[in-house]
Amino acid sequence: MNTASTDTNQSVVENSINSAKHRHLLDVDSLSSGDVTYFLDNAEYMRSMIPSGSSKMDSLRGKSIYTLFFENSTRTRVSFEQAGKTLGADVINIAASDSSVKKGESLLNTVLTINAMQMDGLILRHPDAGAPNFVAKHIDTPLINAGDGLHAHPTQALLDAMTLRRTLGNLTDAKIAIIGDIIHSRVARSDIILLARMGAHISVAGPPTLMPYGWIPGAHEKVSTDNDGNDVKVHICQSVEQAIDDADVIITLRLQIERQSEGLLPDVNEYSKVWGIDARKLSLANTNAVVMHPGPMNEGIEISTDVAHGPRSLIKDQVLNGVAIRMAVLQAYCGNERLAH
Ligand code: CP
Repeated sequence: MNTASTDTNQSVVENSINSAKHRHLLDVDSLSSGDVTYFLDNAEYMRSMIPSGSSKMDSLRGKSIYTLFFENSTRTRVSFEQAGKTLGADVINIAASDSSVKKGESLLNTVLTINAMQMDGLILRHPDAGAPNFVAKHIDTPLINAGDGLHAHPTQALLDAMTLRRTLGNLTDAKIAIIGDIIHSRVARSDIILLARMGAHISVAGPPTLMPYGWIPGAHEKVSTDNDGNDVKVHICQSVEQAIDDADVIITLRLQIERQSEGLLPDVNEYSKVWGIDARKLSLANTNAVVMHPGPMNEGIEISTDVAHGPRSLIKDQVLNGVAIRMAVLQAYCGNERLAH
């Protein structure tokens, strides 16, 4: 980044650089609404720097950022790479499937090996919940969680918040319906906590077998606390129609079709009919309601083709905002201004 700029947005970046409190970004639970606003504000500035052809920034020049992915990814891995490169960093991508992990090397020894190469930041995706928390205890280098098991996907929640703030103007009192496979979705967990903390009203709906154990339809479940320590709750709905009614936003989740073999889903077509978001269900929401999906989509199952690619879909905006958010996150965690613990 050119720190000599007098651009107003630039000031936002500089003035807020110390407001994030942690060395690593492991989840959203520890982010205050002020921290979230800081990332969204910085990402707005970063987004303005993305346009194709714009000269590269240099705030991370000389830094080596490693991505280490134990699961497949398109959006997250590539956007971190684009974000790092746009900020001037060298980005080295490691797919566990192509690495000495295949010869039996452990997660920790893999990370310690990369760390010995003087990495300046690690982006880690792993199928086990808590893997980033475990690794972070062994390294000083900033670690960004790119999705761990059923636990968390913090940069997805931040990019979803950014996308919604850009569209609605404000997250406070936004009515958001999250539909589908809630229990297996780290995106749902992180979105619910972060968006509720920002003042949104969240309703969730999905098949009983795909909802967290103990969540009772009709009840309000505590998921978080606000800045004043007050309970933040989500509404557990009886049906998709109830969740969508009066919604400003519908977030539909990838159906993890592989779960069908676990006996959790009797029939994918039936799932689509009852829980899939199509034009009819969208018409039940507010007139200008928008639709989001974290990707990758099962088009025709949890979302119909016309809705996914229609005028009220924000899916492509989510992808672009993902680059901006990851730029802001890399700048905050891997930039020269050291974050306090
Ligand atoms: N939303 C998301 O994490 O997508 P990828 O798996 O493609 O990274």
